[in-house]
Amino acid sequence: MTEKSLLHKLIYINYKRKFCHLEWKESFSVENEELDRHHKKLFDLVNTILEAMKTEKSNDTVFITDILNSLAEYTQYHFQKEEAAFLHSGYPFAVAHIREHRLFTAKVKEMLANKNKTLPALNAIRIAQVANAWITDHVIRFDKGYAEYLDRERVLTLSTH
Ligand SMILES: [Fe+2]
Ligand SMILES: [Fe+2]
Repeated sequence: MTEKSLLHKLIYINYKRKFCHLEWKESFSVENEELDRHHKKLFDLVNTILEAMKTEKSNDTVFITDILNSLAEYTQYHFQKEEAAFLHSGYPFAVAHIREHRLFTAKVKEMLANKNKTLPALNAIRIAQVANAWITDHVIRFDKGYAEYLDRERVLTLSTH
């Protein structure tokens, strides 16, 4: 067995032990079609990493750079939209929520800055760990919390017309 295929086998064992595909469920809904669509796209990005870990694609520097850039760009876009929505809704946990967004943005930046310090395949494991845990946890613990405020704003808007 070559060193490369041995490495890939180790990555795949790691993948099978620790990760499973993310599946968006109706219970994750924040009752806003656009923001739900963004969350599904973020789940897809995580699943792209997990899929790559089944093959030697995850040991490719270009793939690692592309996936980190996609994560950075899409989260920036999503966070802006989400923050604009909840800042106008009276949602009381906006400051803590925005801080969570900034922490994730910093983590992705850090992974981008350090990506050449180790093997691409080990980067893939790190990205999968960070993104998988953060995205599901954030949607359930933070994003779900603003749903009732966005909804209340919509009801108030409707009732004034
Ligand atoms: Fe959020
Ligand atoms: Fe979100």
